[in-house]
Amino acid sequence: MQRQKMRSGQPRLDLEGALIARDRVGIQDFVLLDAFTSETAFLDNLKKRFNENLIYTYIGTLLVSVNPYKELGIYTKKQMDIYMGVNFFELPPHIYALADNAYHAMLTEMNNHFFLISGESGAGKTEACKKILQFYAVSCPTSSLLDSIRDRMLVSNPVLEAFGNAKTLKNDNSSRFGKYMDIQFDRQGEAVGGHILSYLLEKSRVVHQNHGERNFHIFYQLVEGGEEETLRLLGLERDCKHYSYLVQGEYRTVRTINDKNDWKTMRNALTIINFSEKDIEHLLGIVGSVLHLGNVQFEADRDGYARLSSKAELRWVSKLLGIHVQVLQEALTFRKIEAKTEEVLSPFSVDHAIYARDALAKALYGRMFTWIVNKINDSLENLDSSKKTVIGLLDIYGFEVFYVNSFEQFCINYCNEKLQQLFIQLTLKSEQEEYEAEGIEWEPVQFFNNKIICDLVEEKRTGIITMLDEECMRPGDTTDITFLERLEERMGSHPHFITHRLADQRIRKTMERGDFRLLHYAGEVTYCVVGFIDKNNDLLYRNIKDMIRHSKNGIVRHCFPPTEVDSKKRPETVASQFKSSLAELTEILMAKQPWYIRCLKSNEAKQPGRFDDMLVRHQVKYLGLMEHLRVRRAGFAYRRRYEVFLQRYKPLCPATWPHWKGVPAVGVEKLLIHLGYKEDDYKIGRTKIFIRHPKTLFAIEDAYEICKHELASKIQAKYKGYRVKNEFQKQKEAATKIETCWRGVQARKERERRAWAVKVIKKFIKGYMTRHEASTTDNSEYLTFVRHSYLTRLKNQLPKTVLDKTTWLAPPPVVKEASEMLRKLHMRLLVRRYVRGVTAQQKAQLQLKVVTSELFKGKKDSYPQSLAKPFADTRISEHDINANVLQIIRHERIKYSTPVVKYDRNGFKPRPRQLILTQTAAYLVEETKIKQRVEYSSLKGISVSNLSDGILILHVAPEVKQKGDLVLQCDHLFETLTKLSMVANKRNVVKVVQGSIKFDIKPGKEGYVDFSSGQEAMVYKAKNGHLMVVSTRSKSR
Ligand SMILES: Nc1ncnc2c1ncn2[C@@H]1O[C@H](COP(=O)(O)OP(=O)(O)OP(=O)(O)O)[C@@H](O)[C@H]1O
Ligand SMILES: [Mg+2]
Repeated sequence: MQRQKMRSGQPRLDLEGALIARDRVGIQDFVLLDAFTSETAFLDNLKKRFNENLIYTYIGTLLVSVNPYKELGIYTKKQMDIYMGVNFFELPPHIYALADNAYHAMLTEMNNHFFLISGESGAGKTEACKKILQFYAVSCPTSSLLDSIRDRMLVSNPVLEAFGNAKTLKNDNSSRFGKYMDIQFDRQGEAVGGHILSYLLEKSRVVHQNHGERNFHIFYQLVEGGEEETLRLLGLERDCKHYSYLVQGEYRTVRTINDKNDWKTMRNALTIINFSEKDIEHLLGIVGSVLHLGNVQFEADRDGYARLSSKAELRWVSKLLGIHVQVLQEALTFRKIEAKTEEVLSPFSVDHAIYARDALAKALYGRMFTWIVNKINDSLENLDSSKKTVIGLLDIYGFEVFYVNSFEQFCINYCNEKLQQLFIQLTLKSEQEEYEAEGIEWEPVQFFNNKIICDLVEEKRTGIITMLDEECMRPGDTTDITFLERLEERMGSHPHFITHRLADQRIRKTMERGDFRLLHYAGEVTYCVVGFIDKNNDLLYRNIKDMIRHSKNGIVRHCFPPTEVDSKKRPETVASQFKSSLAELTEILMAKQPWYIRCLKSNEAKQPGRFDDMLVRHQVKYLGLMEHLRVRRAGFAYRRRYEVFLQRYKPLCPATWPHWKGVPAVGVEKLLIHLGYKEDDYKIGRTKIFIRHPKTLFAIEDAYEICKHELASKIQAKYKGYRVKNEFQKQKEAATKIETCWRGVQARKERERRAWAVKVIKKFIKGYMTRHEASTTDNSEYLTFVRHSYLTRLKNQLPKTVLDKTTWLAPPPVVKEASEMLRKLHMRLLVRRYVRGVTAQQKAQLQLKVVTSELFKGKKDSYPQSLAKPFADTRISEHDINANVLQIIRHERIKYSTPVVKYDRNGFKPRPRQLILTQTAAYLVEETKIKQRVEYSSLKGISVSNLSDGILILHVAPEVKQKGDLVLQCDHLFETLTKLSMVANKRNVVKVVQGSIKFDIKPGKEGYVDFSSGQEAMVYKAKNGHLMVVSTRSKSR
């Protein structure tokens, strides 16, 4: 993220921009140099840049760095940020750009890388290595857990430098050991662990330093910076001059070194790397004991054998190593010789004793150094063994030439020779071979191949190392000189080998007798053979080994295991060991992708701002920079296997995205044509694509970066869609499941319901069939249902009135009895209700009606119609009765009066009259006159026809008869007659007659009224003199 941000947020310094400044600061990539074959032009450019404090220049992806010997302020956090995630050539050259590109290449390609940092002593290799480490410490993502790994990795440097670096004539902080460090990264790019391999420490420095040089820094740091208490415990004085191991190079303070501060840093680092207090105590015990050992002096006794001058120093050694002083003393002054059956102690001469003492000091220091490296490795170990990639940093002692060069310089320069060979193999040679193999047109570049020198040193049977080993192992008197002679014998004719004897006059002058000279790739070096045999053997007397393994100092005991003493096998010589470890290193490096940093020294005086043309020209030459540039210029900046290239950039062309099914080479060509590159920009090899200019590649890479984001969005969208679709699918499935379950539940319910219904229907049918039988289990429910249903229906269909005798729901047989009882009950209820509702008036009416019924029911036709007509109290109100009449009859109390038609007895003429009934008599009134009074007592009878006419005949007793019977017609026949019979209290006087009624016209004279029924109601006098009454037929009849 951060890297990406930096990438996009950083204004790019494009090539054109850089070109404007070319005159002043030179060009930043030698590949762009016009006169690329001119060494002078090359140096000019370097110098131009150096003078502008631009110490870095590229040759393609190789970084040339010129030591400025001053702080430039280009290693700040801000600078790191600028270079994070930015492609090569987009910014001025910097070691951070290289580090960042290696890191990204590692992450994208998931492979291992390494930095080959080379250059002579003091050129800036160790500094470059530290800068890369610091860059990763800041730029890589990290977790709190990994913070500690990162810190340990960073602080391992001051510790290793304290114990493994020293001031030499070439460099104030010269690495006196080789270091290869692996930084391990996980897939996320976090630094998860590290591992260090160390190579051949220059142990001889412990006991001897050349003039102007110092011992390893740690001694000075301890003496100068160590706390009072520490020094007291170690028995040391705060004075370097006091220790003979520290003053051989004529010690003086060095301006660039601050031992006090360095002590603090180193001491603090030990704690961070997990050194326990005990470890530190033992470690410093060894350092102290070496200083004391150096001060142990011997003198010759009477027999010339070595004797301790003073025991004081040895006591301290004894105390610090935890070995009895007597044992120590014996081991330093005697040698144990194993005779056939016994061991004999042979006393040392003074020289021998000094040799034994120095050998012990060197062995102690050398093994302690290895122990420190292992201890650091333990603390850097990555406990997670899952897949990881590594970036290796190789910082080895640089090529060096001193006034006197010994075995150590031989090894160091051999090592540089090997690295140069590796460089040649990986770049120049392999590059040219690759062009050939790929069938790319190519003009071979001549370069110096140093294999011849490597072979001279390491050839299995004839190499210098084999010679030396043979000389070391050969029985008889072998010396450094015999070794030299053998060399002369075997190598005499080799073009890169020369000795004093073999040289011509001119050269001989420059050499000593005991010297041999090698023409290294980086120049001639004259080695002095003195010490070669001893140093290669690196033998420790057996009794010293025996003694030291019993040390109470834990580290010492660990470093001198008993197995080593017991082993009879001759240990491998130093040179052989070194040779095989370099072979192993070569293998490790060959399996990784290389990045090169070539360090150049600007001047020998270590002064800032000085650019020594000669010195730089020499380095440019032997480092093969010109050849490298020529190969680069003639060749192609970038190449990749078609598959790899296509895999990465295929999204840039529709034809190759998302898959290219054909031959990868064709796909790549299609892709490049699509991107619009000209034929000259690239070449098609057999298995690889070659791109000539870096800028072409960067343009592709930039397009890829943009495309990547677009693709990411597309993939993201697709994925989101896929996720949502999945979710939807799931929900749909869930819904279907729920639906299915629900339907199942419903179906089961339905089935149960139907089963239940079948049962019920069955029961119902069975019940129906057995409904007339006595109640059994089969029909009891049905019968209950029938009862219930009948009663429910009945409830809604009950007769509403007392008169309704017909409405009654026919009961099924089972409830017949109950129905009957209910019917009666209901009737009684209706009657009761009716009766309760009857008023006094209605009651009176009814009583009248009862009387009427008794009189007429079933007798007279018009009776039924009369039933519904209520009776009135009277039909003529008293106002309508003549006052005179009233006057006459009032005292009798009028009970009822009604208009009637009176038919004359003679002639039957109808005359309207009022019939007034009083308490005692009935009056027939004609307006103002009472025409006839019939006392009730004299009322003999009343006759009416059985038809529907309104004729009534009042029969009057003959004794009171003045006028005869009354023939009347009344519209309210039943009412009138009922009232009359009531008032007269004569119920049985009313007779209903069929046919004719006979009546008295006057006493003795009878008349008749005949009744018949016809179409029309009429009353007339018939021809027979009877009154003929025709009435309409009553409907109800
Ligand atoms: N990039 C740099 N900026 C400033 N000073 C530098 C730089 N590189 C090196 N130096 C100076 O040069 C000195 C020597 O550098 P360094 O120790 O890295 O050399 P070296 O190549 O490791 O030598 P050797 O082979 O002896 O170990 C450093 O102590 C430092 O003072
Ligand atoms: Mg170094």
